[in-house]
Amino acid sequence: MTAVLTATAERGLRGRCRVPGDKSISHRAALLSLLTDSRSEFLGYSPAGDCRASLAAVAELGGEVSRMGERVSVVGPKGHRFRGAEPVAVDCGRSGTTMRLLAGIVAGWDGRFLLDGDHQLRRRPMARVAGPLEEMGAKIHLGSGGRPPLAISGGGLQGIRHRSAVASAQVKSAVLLAGTMARGTTVVEEPLATRDHTELMLSRMGLDISVQPRGLGCRVTLAPGALEPIRISIPGDASSAAVLAAAAAVVPGSDIVIEGVSLNPTRARFFELLRRMGVEVEMIPDEGGDFGAEPAGSLRVVQRPIEGVLVDSAEVPFLIDELPLVGLLATQAQGVTEVRGAAELRVKESDRIHGLVVGLRALGATVEERSDGFLVDGPSSLSGAVCDSQSDHRLAMTFAVAGLVAEGRTEILGAEYIPDSFPGFFECLGSIS
Ligand code: S3P
Repeated sequence: MTAVLTATAERGLRGRCRVPGDKSISHRAALLSLLTDSRSEFLGYSPAGDCRASLAAVAELGGEVSRMGERVSVVGPKGHRFRGAEPVAVDCGRSGTTMRLLAGIVAGWDGRFLLDGDHQLRRRPMARVAGPLEEMGAKIHLGSGGRPPLAISGGGLQGIRHRSAVASAQVKSAVLLAGTMARGTTVVEEPLATRDHTELMLSRMGLDISVQPRGLGCRVTLAPGALEPIRISIPGDASSAAVLAAAAAVVPGSDIVIEGVSLNPTRARFFELLRRMGVEVEMIPDEGGDFGAEPAGSLRVVQRPIEGVLVDSAEVPFLIDELPLVGLLATQAQGVTEVRGAAELRVKESDRIHGLVVGLRALGATVEERSDGFLVDGPSSLSGAVCDSQSDHRLAMTFAVAGLVAEGRTEILGAEYIPDSFPGFFECLGSIS
């Protein structure tokens, strides 16, 4: 599907809106319920395609899933036997989070499992999770080049001390989830701190887990144990809110409020970066609502002239999904913006560095591609163009925001992938246009 956008009305984006439930928290709510044996309930579960893949996977693994709109309940597969003649096959769709976190869960179960996904997921690196899980005692066979499918024979795990080579919340989470079922303590040391939703949720579910900051990273220590079911409300997705915030930051005259958004500090860095660039951003914490230890609130974003910034490796994990938006903002900012230490972007749903650079250049921006990031020399007057999202929801939304400020018509190829993370994106944008 091709979406067509034209520069938005001069009065700017205005009004209040909400975004769907947070994708990272929703994945964890569904998948961690597999480790409990009574009913977990979540309100505000994300309708994103990726989170549907997690619920489908939970059902394939014997979890009892009921869904009424944004209210989801899951009863874990207590007493389920997985030692059949054939491995249990689980389709993770296009969702890397589903596959990596699930690998950590089934690694602890006595049975054989085959985790697979569509052609896009089959290109993503999985050795990063298979390595530590094998060290814990799981037997894992990967597809060619260390990619899916993953054939896992689980059970009999031993806790390990894992020092991550990449700063990845997905890898950390896989090891911690396996650690809940292992003998002895599991320790994960991260070179740079990453999003902490798994730690918050495990703690909320009654597990003994502690986090010590160590330089720019941290050390997470977990003792195995039984998990209690969870009952939480899921706040709005910080990365979806970031798209609307970026739009408000670049469309002249904008002043918007996004309500009920996750303001977890490991996810809110983009909003701080907007401030650093000169945008007026107010974060107003919510007092009510049980978000299970996740901070949430409203976000007001008022457009102001912006300046280029330097984003270096230490803050990359806290901004990883928002970096394409940083590239787009940079085209409207005075001066140079540079993003370093972000080579991970090349192994997301697409090579996001290359796809972003090609798209921004097509729109008329001055962009340099680096092996681990990009440099944008702004500001540029963008002109409508055809932008290929490379079947990547985050690039598609970034180009949609570009279309709001580019002169003339911007066509986005692959806009049908946007609901992987943000169903209702165009309606939401329309409601504040
Ligand atoms: C996620 C972590 C990030 C992020 C992804 C979701 C998560 O991946 O890019 O969209 O929910 O843990 P990495 O931790 O592998 O960088």
